[in-house]
Amino acid sequence: MSKAKVYISKAIPKPAADYLEERFDCRTWDGQGAASRERLLEELAEVEGLLTASSVINQELLDRAPKLRAVSTVSVGYNHFDVQAMKERGVIGTHTPYVLDDTVADLVLGMMLSVSRRLPELDQFVKQGRWQRGVGLKEEHFFGFDVHHRTIGIIGMGRIGEAIAQRAVHGFGMKLLYTSRSAKPEVEQRFGGERRELDALLAQSDYVVLMTPLTAETKHMLREEHFRRMKPTAFFINASRGQTIEESALVKALQNGWIAGAALDVFDPEPPSPDNPLLAMTNVVTLPHIGSATAATRDDMVMLAARNLAAALLGEKPPNVVPELAHLV
Ligand code: DGY
Repeated sequence: MSKAKVYISKAIPKPAADYLEERFDCRTWDGQGAASRERLLEELAEVEGLLTASSVINQELLDRAPKLRAVSTVSVGYNHFDVQAMKERGVIGTHTPYVLDDTVADLVLGMMLSVSRRLPELDQFVKQGRWQRGVGLKEEHFFGFDVHHRTIGIIGMGRIGEAIAQRAVHGFGMKLLYTSRSAKPEVEQRFGGERRELDALLAQSDYVVLMTPLTAETKHMLREEHFRRMKPTAFFINASRGQTIEESALVKALQNGWIAGAALDVFDPEPPSPDNPLLAMTNVVTLPHIGSATAATRDDMVMLAARNLAAALLGEKPPNVVPELAHLV
């Protein structure tokens, strides 16, 4: 029996590439970065399986891929899947949860520390030779805000939220607030977390951490009225997706001093345009969507994505089908 055709839209590490090549007839984009949209669509005519990282899987793509049976994304977020269109065509979609939880949580703590203790700003201060004796700088010039023993409010208390809570509560002695549709007894027991309505969490937290996945319901969930509710000494941390907030409202909040600062790993759009006001603010830490970006974690994610794809194409149950498409396996 001939092997199913698989397209890999971005070069992947050798173990995962070998794993897929043993089982399938693979073609891999060999240019810089990921295959362009145009190139991807051209490649799909005969393809049954696609391994990708962020390609939008919509009706347009499905129409160009009549034989497609499974799409495996190397990410936990799958907001680039049109799950309704995939459902109608019976295309299985998989993602890579669990393996990145600790890595993303590490980064979130790093973002909190960076923005509150002004690490990038003061790093530049030293490197640019501005730290000189006798120029009359007051010690207060370097002051920041504490992280330890303050209050963290996590919006979107899933697995990554719990990994953040573990560090924040047990490492930094922070008090934990969280939002959730229903109470989470385990979070309350392990971390002493207290559930709040969104408005109360915004008003009471020193660090508001947004970790919710991007869905139709969470798109632009934080707007001007929400940033207005935060404390003027509070920091906003976004490691979810840029579109979960109204970015212009965040800009306004920072320009007007409604909040003290922000640390952002995600933007809308990505990359942000060079004239995005956030890029010029010293109280905003900006990162290029690196939540899961360590070599070890990315290797694990790619291998998991390869296993998910193989299982789907070989008629086995993939370990990580996205919930909306779980009935297809
Ligand atoms: C994910 O896995 O969804 C991350 O955002 C990618 O880094």
